[in-house]
Amino acid sequence: MPELNSSFHLRMFRKQQVMDSLPARIFRAIRDEIKHKNIYGLHWGDPDVAPPLKFIKEQYVLPFVDENQQALEIGPGGGRWTRYLLGFKKLYLVDYHAEILTELKKNFDLPEMVFIKNNGADFPSVPEKSIDFLFSFGTFVHLELHLIEAYLENMKAVLRPGANVVIQYSDMTKIMAQKTAGFVDNDPARMRRMVGAVGYSLVAEDLTTLWHSSLIHFRA
Ligand SMILES: C[S@@+](CC[C@H](N)C(=O)[O-])C[C@H]1O[C@@H](n2cnc3c(N)ncnc32)[C@H](O)[C@@H]1O
Repeated sequence: MPELNSSFHLRMFRKQQVMDSLPARIFRAIRDEIKHKNIYGLHWGDPDVAPPLKFIKEQYVLPFVDENQQALEIGPGGGRWTRYLLGFKKLYLVDYHAEILTELKKNFDLPEMVFIKNNGADFPSVPEKSIDFLFSFGTFVHLELHLIEAYLENMKAVLRPGANVVIQYSDMTKIMAQKTAGFVDNDPARMRRMVGAVGYSLVAEDLTTLWHSSLIHFRA
């Protein structure tokens, strides 16, 4: 704790005044314009910038990236999270909407990426026992429980034994989930039960980082 007469608060205030000055704001705007592609989804928060998303990226995504392994993302959107998965040997991008896959392809189109339009909860043309890491953010928050159950059941076939799965889902025990349009009625107890029912092993739950959702990490 800073002492009462410490300069801690005034230093913090003055530093922010410099950051908020017009030249500093113009510099950041130009830098961001040059640096960032116009990725659909960044308006929900940029995992390079927003602290909770940055934490998720560093804790639950980057440690799994392995150039000798294969990954799959469900509901990639414009590629907000896809960009951190490009270090895998092969990356399957599975989405229900062809139009959104076309948008993703505009931003990222590498030989190791496989774009798949599915039927809502399946993995057409993904080889059996081929996936080492499966990730989904911003998608299961909107899926009804019967679709979540179908996904959990169907992913069994494509996951390698021991594969890691990280899924963000709607958590109605949090007031902000209740107030967010389009979030489904789900919570950690139900998610845990659905994951357990398929026989996966729970590794970790993150119930605190996000204000309207939670994360589950399990192994096949
Ligand atoms: C809100 S966006 C999130 C996109 C991205 N993951 C992000 O966080 O920015 C939801 C994505 O899930 C896709 N989607 C919706 N229902 C789906 C389903 N049943 N299976 C796979 N993808 C689905 C949408 O087309 C869209 O790409």
